[in-house]
Amino acid sequence: MKNFINISDLSISDLRSILEDAKLRKSNRKNFNKSAPDKDLPFQGKSMAMIFEKPSTRTRMSFDIAVKQLGGSSIILNPDGIHYGKGDESLKDTAKVLSEYVDIVMLRTSSHKNLEEFGKYLSIPIINGLSDLSHPCQILSDILTFEEYKGSIQNKTVSWLGDGNNNMSNSLIEAAGKFDFQLKIGCPKEYAPQKKILDWAKRNKVNLTITKKPYEAVKDSDCIMTDKWVSMNDKVNKSKKKKLLKNYQVNKKIMELAKADAIFMHCLPVGRGEEVTDDIIDGKQSVVWMQALNRVHAQKSIINWCLS
Ligand code: CP
Ligand code: NVA
Repeated sequence: MKNFINISDLSISDLRSILEDAKLRKSNRKNFNKSAPDKDLPFQGKSMAMIFEKPSTRTRMSFDIAVKQLGGSSIILNPDGIHYGKGDESLKDTAKVLSEYVDIVMLRTSSHKNLEEFGKYLSIPIINGLSDLSHPCQILSDILTFEEYKGSIQNKTVSWLGDGNNNMSNSLIEAAGKFDFQLKIGCPKEYAPQKKILDWAKRNKVNLTITKKPYEAVKDSDCIMTDKWVSMNDKVNKSKKKKLLKNYQVNKKIMELAKADAIFMHCLPVGRGEEVTDDIIDGKQSVVWMQALNRVHAQKSIINWCLS
């Protein structure tokens, strides 16, 4: 069974083949209507179930459109409207039932364990649509976006500012190891990556620098990335966390330290005026809307890979 749960689970050749499929499919559908199917209809007669235990705009929309473009259909299950979410039916039984109805499942969950458990009982593939630990669909599609603007990411430098201990930064560290780029994380020690991911980075010889100095983290970088300071279901003292992160805001002064042609990336939704200022996210170097669009293209190829 080919599940897509973490970037670290896949070999670089599988990750590359997903990206190459995405690039080809995207270029083959110039001038197509937004939901018109690709000519080869690889998902025709097939369907995907999506379960969202947390809110979502992009993941919900982009998977739905991805499935349409592949020629299939999708059904969104609201946990409150199904027995599993109410606690009346076990995860195991839900997984067995879904395996009879659809061809693939996407789950967004607050508990990464749920993904692994679902994966154990499903006889069809599962895709991680964000968990507390990782957001692999976002990061893989961000590599697609990066390469559209800047060419191969290998040996380039990406900087991450802000919360260094969230789902996005974890997946980014894994991507740095797989795609072989330099990653510089600027964060306070309270929000540095956890030991488990740092151990993975060490074992996999990731070119990773972690610094408390934001200026050091972004210097001569090809790309500056950040994320909301307080993630969904982040059970922290929000104002205390924001205070600790305030020096890690991406603003004009920070952006000017990166290379002149550096890009700014953010997975969205954004805390405007917090992790990034309006002039940067709305400015010439920002590629955030392309990031949102590319979720469709990358996820089509993730689905194809899972079913191949
Ligand atoms: N970036 C992202 O996953 O957005 P949503 O939470 O809107 O799905
Ligand atoms: N780190 C953010 C990502 C949102 C797409 C969160 O989990 O809320």
